[in-house]
Amino acid sequence: AGTGKFFVGGNWKCNGTRDSITKLVADLNDAKLETDVDVVVAPPYIYIDQVKQSLTDRIEISAQNSWIGKGGAFTGEISVEQLVDIGCKWVILGHSERRHIIGEDDQFIGKKAAYALSQNLKMKAFADSISNWTDVVIAYEPVWAIGTGKVATPQQAQEVHLAVRDWLKKNVSAEVASSTRIIYGGSVNGNNSSELAKQEDIDGFLVGGASLKGPEFAVIVNSVT
Ligand code: G3P
Repeated sequence: AGTGKFFVGGNWKCNGTRDSITKLVADLNDAKLETDVDVVVAPPYIYIDQVKQSLTDRIEISAQNSWIGKGGAFTGEISVEQLVDIGCKWVILGHSERRHIIGEDDQFIGKKAAYALSQNLKMKAFADSISNWTDVVIAYEPVWAIGTGKVATPQQAQEVHLAVRDWLKKNVSAEVASSTRIIYGGSVNGNNSSELAKQEDIDGFLVGGASLKGPEFAVIVNSVT
């Protein structure tokens, strides 16, 4: 960890029921979380309101996706304005599951990113068409590590994070490179997070499976100390 405030996001993906989420929220409300960490959870759309009503303000809420522009006649989509209206502060864009399974490409994701930022929704993702980087967090997730139990070694992750930072330096600016948080995702759990958090260029985590267990998620949040 080196850049900015440590950031830990819980990406619940397409998991949960009203009951399991009630329990997860209760566990998160009970957890003792380090004060110097940004903590965000991303429930499925339909549970965002339930989570917003019951979760401590200490933890911010993210969506897992958003529509590319202003809402309207787009069956099945959820607009950025609606997410903001319901109390979301963040959105995850460009997750590899949306790229590989749903078929979203760089251009589509770039447009979504630009629109979300224009409406003051912050982002946990990378995108080309970004003019204001202040509200961006980049997540690096090696696809072979997602949901597999095979975590990158701290050295492997550090190497890629540094490469991403160098890329930002060359392609955006030195200032953005040194101030943008780059977080790691892929089989992060309560046992491997503290070694990863020690790396200079790992500024946080995006956690899938382990974020569905409140106490373990709290261990990950607190692993930066
Ligand atoms: O966005 C987080 C993610 O893709 C990692 O999932 O289950 O390997 O922690 P998981």
